[in-house]
Amino acid sequence: MSLVIGPLDLPAHVDEALAVQAVAFGLGPDEVAVRRQIVLRHMTYPGARALGATAGGRLVGFVYGMPNDRTHWWSTVVEPYLRARGHEDWLDDSFVITELHVHPAYQNRGVGRSLITTITDSATEPRSILSAIDIESPARGLYRSLGYEDLARQVLFPSAPRPYAVMGAPLPLRRR
Ligand SMILES: CC(C)(COP(=O)(O)OP(=O)(O)OC[C@H]1O[C@@H](n2cnc3c(N)ncnc32)[C@H](O)[C@@H]1OP(=O)(O)O)[C@@H](O)C(=O)NCCC(=O)NCCS
Repeated sequence: MSLVIGPLDLPAHVDEALAVQAVAFGLGPDEVAVRRQIVLRHMTYPGARALGATAGGRLVGFVYGMPNDRTHWWSTVVEPYLRARGHEDWLDDSFVITELHVHPAYQNRGVGRSLITTITDSATEPRSILSAIDIESPARGLYRSLGYEDLARQVLFPSAPRPYAVMGAPLPLRRR
C-alpha cells in the first residue's frame, strides 16, 4: 500500500492522530483525553504545523511542531537543564518537534525519518530541538542518525514518570 506524506489538518484529525500515538507510544484513555486538549491548544500557537503519513487514506503516522517560544511550558521546564549545561541558547531560533509517532505496523519503513526531515525542511530556524524518553530506543537512534545530539539528560517533566533527554540538531537535518 502506498504511503503518502503531506500536510495534516491536525485539529480536524486529532482523534485519528491520538489513536496512532496511543498504540505507538502507549497512552491510556485518560492520557488521550488530556493530550487532546494539549494538541488543540498547541495548534493555535504561531507557526505550529503538522504533517501526516497516510496509507490507503488512513493516518498511520504524524509529526507536529512549532518555533520554540521561551514562555511555552515545555521550554520553561527544559530551560534550567539546558542552562546548567551551557546550551540555553538552543531555545532561541529553534524549531521544536513536539510529537512524532508512527503506527507499529508501519514502523521501520522510513516514515518517521521522512516526516521529521520534511517538517524541518520547511522551518526557517537554523536548528531544531526535541525531547525523548532518556533510554536507548528507536526514536533516540533515529534522532541521532539525523544529527540530533544530547543537550541535557535526565530531564524531569512534572507529570511524566520517566526522565527525558533534550536533543538538538542543526537544520537541515543530516541525510544518509
Ligand atoms: C520513533 C518512530 C517515530 C520512528 O518511526 P519509523 O517510521 O519506525 O522510523 P524510520 O523507519 O523512519 O527510521 C527508523 C530509524 O530508527 C532507528 N531505529 C529503528 N529501530 C531501532 C532500534 N531498535 N534501535 C536503534 N535505532 C533504531 C534507526 O536509526 C532507523 O534508521 P535506519 O533507517 O537507518 O534503519 C517510531 O519508532 C515510533 O513511533 N515509536 C514509538 C513512539 C515514539 O517513541 N515516538 C517518539 C517520541 S520522542
